[in-house]
Amino acid sequence: MATDSLTVTDNRTGETFELPITNGTVKAIDFRQMKANESDFGLMAYDPAFTNTVSCSSSVTHLDGDAGVLQYRGYPIEQLAEKSTFTEVSYLLIYGKLPTQSELDSWNSQLLELMAGEEVLKTITSDFPENAHPMGIVQATVAALGTLYPDSKDFDDDAASLEYAKRLIAQIAVLGSWAYRHGAGQPLLDAPKNASYPGAFLQMMFGEEPDPRIERALDILLILHADHEQNCSTSTVRVVGSSDADVHASVSSGIGALYGPLHGGANEAVLQMLARIETKDNVPAFIERVKDRDELLMGFGHRVYKNFDPRATIIKEAVDEVFQITGVNPLLEVAQELEKIALEDEFFVGRKLYPNVDFYSGLLYEALGIPTEMFTVMFAIGRTPGWVAQWWEMKHDKEQKIARPRQVYTGDMDLDYVDIGNR
Ligand code: ACO
Repeated sequence: MATDSLTVTDNRTGETFELPITNGTVKAIDFRQMKANESDFGLMAYDPAFTNTVSCSSSVTHLDGDAGVLQYRGYPIEQLAEKSTFTEVSYLLIYGKLPTQSELDSWNSQLLELMAGEEVLKTITSDFPENAHPMGIVQATVAALGTLYPDSKDFDDDAASLEYAKRLIAQIAVLGSWAYRHGAGQPLLDAPKNASYPGAFLQMMFGEEPDPRIERALDILLILHADHEQNCSTSTVRVVGSSDADVHASVSSGIGALYGPLHGGANEAVLQMLARIETKDNVPAFIERVKDRDELLMGFGHRVYKNFDPRATIIKEAVDEVFQITGVNPLLEVAQELEKIALEDEFFVGRKLYPNVDFYSGLLYEALGIPTEMFTVMFAIGRTPGWVAQWWEMKHDKEQKIARPRQVYTGDMDLDYVDIGNR
């Protein structure tokens, strides 16, 4: 008997099956051969919320949640945050290797060129109500971008697909800045001709050249958000893309998934929570409410990190540096007190709840002058290269087909239709 295998006895029939184990997984489809009787469909794996299901093989991002490790294409996040730039990381995620200087120069100038504003998207953005949430606007305008390029549905042309993916990475910064400017009642600006990616974004947001230190802090934030393997929004991008939907429709769906407060929306929810707690003295009472299950401690906990989220550690350092430029936000004290108490309290320690990327990112965004409702848009801008790289990998993965989970049906069956007058 092979050692890398699992022996299963189906006690309904007494039959024994040997399932191969590859990369620490067994194939769910191998259970289908286990049938209670001839007419049985076969055994399936039940996994609501995919807590223990591997949906793909990927060489984009390595994450070890127990050890607190995050690597893009094998490079530790700490080194990338210290030495790289967001555009270089985007290249790395998409092409799978670090660029040479000339490749990077060309990539940067292409991204800047592809930031050229699409007039029709300016109009669409301007037609939203002024109080529309910018995430909703960006989700819609990313989908609308696809309608301007119907050829983007031609997946057989790798070079063209890559061009659309690249344009999307460039355009999301423009569309994000426009969503903000529209809400602020200000004219929508075009990208400057000569700037870095974060610099161009900040200039489109605020209409002036940013402080290089602020630009670098934003660059780091975008690097930290660039990919995070098979999370809720990335899985959504892959599921939608598996139907052969183009990159715009797929990423637009990912933006919808990121919108929710349990995912990317948590950074906004953290700031709202800190503002509600107001002062350090109110923290113990708030923690008690969390333990009584009246509240969630937003920015804490993670499906895969059962240790420090390495991104949170890097952001915390960046917060200190940015506050030296901008002055300290009094809510930092509230956040630090929450973290201190939670890391000592058995409720959080026992459940392995640590600060995640969103716990401090909101404070940093606020220090950069970015308003709360834009936080999740910032996350989406940063995550776009990751979504695109994952979409691209999925399209080239011969093992993938249209995604289609199964269900256990628990409803009624074989009812007789009752005429409306007789109900
Ligand atoms: N505050 C209080 N209790 C929590 C929290 C929290 N933030 N997170 C988890 N718990 C508790 C759960 O109630 C559960 O307790 P129980 O076992 O006694 O019932 C236990 O910890 C385990 O949590 P799960 O809900 O099983 O964890 P899951 O993996 O399903 O959820 C999630 C992960 C959604 C991130 C959760 O921790 C959460 O809601 N956190 C707050 C929102 C947040 O910060 N989201 C951002 C995540 S990072 C990102 O998406 C970029």
